[in-house]
Amino acid sequence: ELGPYSHFMQKEIHEQPKAIADTLEALVDAGFQMHLFGHKAGEILPHVRGVKILACGTSYYAGLTARYWIEAMSGLPCDVEIASEYRYRAACADPEHLVVTISQSGETLDTMEALKYARELGHRWALSICNVRESAIPRASDLVFFTRAGAEIGVASTKAFTTQLVALFALSVLLGKQRGRIGAADEARLIDELRHLPGSIQHALNLEPQIKAWSERFAAKNDALFLGRGLHYPIALEGALKLKEISYIHAEAYPAGELKHGPLALVDEKMPVVVIAPNDSLLEKVKSNMQEVAARGGELFVFADLDSHFEESDGVHVIRTPRHVGVLSPIVHAIPVQLLAYHVALARGTDVDKPRNLAKSVTVE
Ligand code: F6R
Repeated sequence: ELGPYSHFMQKEIHEQPKAIADTLEALVDAGFQMHLFGHKAGEILPHVRGVKILACGTSYYAGLTARYWIEAMSGLPCDVEIASEYRYRAACADPEHLVVTISQSGETLDTMEALKYARELGHRWALSICNVRESAIPRASDLVFFTRAGAEIGVASTKAFTTQLVALFALSVLLGKQRGRIGAADEARLIDELRHLPGSIQHALNLEPQIKAWSERFAAKNDALFLGRGLHYPIALEGALKLKEISYIHAEAYPAGELKHGPLALVDEKMPVVVIAPNDSLLEKVKSNMQEVAARGGELFVFADLDSHFEESDGVHVIRTPRHVGVLSPIVHAIPVQLLAYHVALARGTDVDKPRNLAKSVTVE
């Protein structure tokens, strides 16, 4: 069942070009159509005045990424909440804000309860992005998009995450179309970019030997810091979660602009700092944040693309994906952080597919 791979996690990381191509199949063939999200989408989506995303863990980070796309493409306000916090908060509900739950398993209790609570508060419509058919959360939703990642067995979410991102990107484009912000030419261009996505993911997977070489440097560390900005901040969060989950190294993620508001105090020559730094509009800002780290002797491990220009030196190591893929860049940059966590865990000899204390589907509180 594992084929040439040593673990389900490694297999599932490598299945991502196919999982994404399968998830994209309907989208790319028909363009961004409302019925992709269920037969009631045509009645509901035109009335939506905002979006509230509810999820846990890695699925929550997919939601954080989507907020950038949704607000930029549709102009609709979007907030993203950790389901286990939202369900116990006296929250304010706007009935016309679409509730979007994101759950690989479709059975996460906190996400299910948050959905029920949102309904009680008056939210009219709920959309579920889920990987498992016949699960509870899609059954309780008006609209559904099933990602087609296939069964995910490793406890750490990998291909579920990147296919969730694809689904959320499609939703963002659809809402943008709906609101007259994305015209036919933009749509055609975005479809074209999506068509190239599985290829770009494959290029990122090809970086595995370089990432494995880095992993040996991490294996002896007790802590790591992950930095990103804008669209890539949630990828830094995801990188830190993957690393702590499967290698048991303490890792934290910060939006790089927050460094000097506290975490810079942690940085010294023992602290590896992973930076997600592709050539987006915030790269110059990220570069000055990197200088803040370098000046304190911190060792920088940078995931970049061919278009992000900065110098490699003794304390600055760089691995580059072959091209910048615009707003889809967070999906591509999920791959190197997954591979890093995987290889660090291998080097430390932990149980990659079944990390201690964790379950694949969290159906208890
Ligand atoms: C991290 C991980 C968890 C899940 C979270 C939500 O690798 O797998 O953080 O993302 O438990 O699970 P789902 O998406 O099934 O609701």
